[in-house]
Amino acid sequence: MSISSLSLIVLAALASAALCGQSQGATPPLQVGFYQGRCGSANVEAIVGGVVRAWYATKDKTIAAALLRMQFHDCFVNGCDASLLLDGGNSNEKAAIPNRSVRGYELIDAAKAAVEAVCRGVVSCADIIIMATRDAVALSGGERYIVQTGRRDGTISLAKNVDLPSPSISVFNSTVAFAKKGLTATDMIYLLGGHTVGATHCSLIMDRLYNFRGTGKPDPSMDVTLRMTLVVRCPPNAKVDNNVNLDQNSTSSMVVDNSYYKQIVKRRGILQIDQDLALDPLSKPTVEAIASGSDFNARFGQAMVKLGGVQVLTGTQGEIRHSCRAVNKR
Ligand code: HEM
Ligand SMILES: *[C@@H]1O[C@H](CO)[C@@H](O)[C@H](O)[C@H]1NC(C)=O
Ligand SMILES: *[C@@H]1O[C@H](CO)[C@@H](O)[C@H](O)[C@H]1NC(C)=O
Ligand SMILES: *[C@@H]1O[C@H](CO)[C@@H](O)[C@H](O)[C@H]1NC(C)=O
Repeated sequence: MSISSLSLIVLAALASAALCGQSQGATPPLQVGFYQGRCGSANVEAIVGGVVRAWYATKDKTIAAALLRMQFHDCFVNGCDASLLLDGGNSNEKAAIPNRSVRGYELIDAAKAAVEAVCRGVVSCADIIIMATRDAVALSGGERYIVQTGRRDGTISLAKNVDLPSPSISVFNSTVAFAKKGLTATDMIYLLGGHTVGATHCSLIMDRLYNFRGTGKPDPSMDVTLRMTLVVRCPPNAKVDNNVNLDQNSTSSMVVDNSYYKQIVKRRGILQIDQDLALDPLSKPTVEAIASGSDFNARFGQAMVKLGGVQVLTGTQGEIRHSCRAVNKR
């Protein structure tokens, strides 16, 4: 048996173990339209959607990037339980987020206030993250996928639980990290498509521009024209840590579409993991199919729904927070 088929079996076992862990016990599953009839005659998803639409129109066109990253970080650390939203000290998840801090907390507060005004103590912050991310994706050119709801909010948020993949993680190690959350290698490839919007900081790509793996040379896998652009934006001794768009197609860097994949196939990936995704034999064929295909938006939505199901609290687990920033007082 080859090493790669062996590792695929190991990954499949990991993934099914993680999934079984979720379905055990008496906790009810998530469901589509959980809030129907639970908030009088109000349509909870429409209320959240209205807040996101207004935010996008009047405040921030990059809200999809902020919320996509928020959902990823919330769901990847201790499950989709809104523990990332908790304020307090420097021992919690929020304080431990690597670099570019997750944004969008104010939008979540606004959506929470809007639903609390209609029915108090009913809608979880964990579900608001999921609904708002879906709406922001739809406003930014993506598909309005159908979400499941019924999550409850967690009460624990620990910096030491934060074990997010680094931008230099290998495709294989990333596959292992996703498998631990019950997500397949294909899910991972679609979810990294979240990098079709948003930005990173020069500090996270300086190695690729100037000193790749200690060679004193740039990353040879980077397109030379791209590097020439980036060295201007990210000079060696810059005092400011500039932003760099993750999708370098200038007409679509704020649009949820498959152009991220078209870019990485052309060696125009920004983070090392982005570029490796297009080069590693484990992911290359799938990346090329997405780049030349037309089903990215639908498949991305399905992968987001799956991400939204990671280690959720339901039924009587956890609580419905009154403020998304603090656990309820007892
Ligand atoms: C192996 C997995 C991943 C790695 C290593 C990774 C790494 C990163 C890094 C390093 C940044 C820039 C942070 C900074 O500049 O400080 C970033 C930004 C971002 N990530 Fe990821 N990421 C991963 C998966 C995901 C997933 C699954 C999603 C969503 C589905 C996602 C969505 C985003 C978005 C939208 C941004 C831009 C945020 C903004 O503009 O505010 N990432 N990611
Ligand atoms: C990112 O983290 C590195 C290492 O901890 C640090 O040197 C750098 O200043 C950080 N960049 C930002 C934008 O916070
Ligand atoms: C992959 O994970 C192994 C085990 O944790 C580690 O030793 C190795 O350095 C990782 N490789 C990369 C490229 O992240
Ligand atoms: C750039 O984005 C536009 C609009 O989404 C798309 O039609 C085009 O194919 C993309 N080109 C590349 C090279 O990624």
